[in-house]
Amino acid sequence: MSYLTSKMVTIMVKERTFVMIKPDAVQRGLVGKVIQRFEDKGIKIVAIKMVSVKRELAEQHYGIHKGKPFFEPTVNYITSSPVVAMVLEGIGAIEMVRNMMGKTDPQKADMGTIRGDFGQSIGRNIVHGSDGPDTAKFEINLWFKPEEISNFTRIDEEWLTE
Ligand code: RTP
Ligand code: MG
Repeated sequence: MSYLTSKMVTIMVKERTFVMIKPDAVQRGLVGKVIQRFEDKGIKIVAIKMVSVKRELAEQHYGIHKGKPFFEPTVNYITSSPVVAMVLEGIGAIEMVRNMMGKTDPQKADMGTIRGDFGQSIGRNIVHGSDGPDTAKFEINLWFKPEEISNFTRIDEEWLTE
């Protein structure tokens, strides 16, 4: 997230976001490539695990979509095979990750984005990322215990910003 001060100076804030590599990407052997995108951008992995998602967790995660026609298919999709769950950290990470993912429907996502480059269908769209600060907090707490998240400084951090 960024905001403009009265002097129009952009101040960037370090954020954490929840990212999930979805079952289709795990099955298609794309885990390394997806993670590589985030690492290449300088985004730090502070938590990571493989999860066979239980129905209850999937329904909580996508609870905001309950009642929509795609809710059941999406819960079925996420519980169909293991996912890789991560907490990623970086300056403006929430929006940056969403931009790197591309539009929800891979058919509409720009080339160069993860969904645009690797996906074909909205119901098999490779990756999830929190869509805002409140969602990020909710999803990180839902998927990870505090002790599963590592607080550390990567050696390249001082070279990422002025
Ligand atoms: P995500 O939550 O997985 O990161 O995706 P998103 O924010 O880009 O999209 P969202 O609106 O939150 O939708 C959640 C997931 O539901 C499936 N979906 N299907 N058939 C449809 O119209 C439709 N719309 C959404 C997608 O798998 C989407 O990622
Ligand atoms: Mg969403």
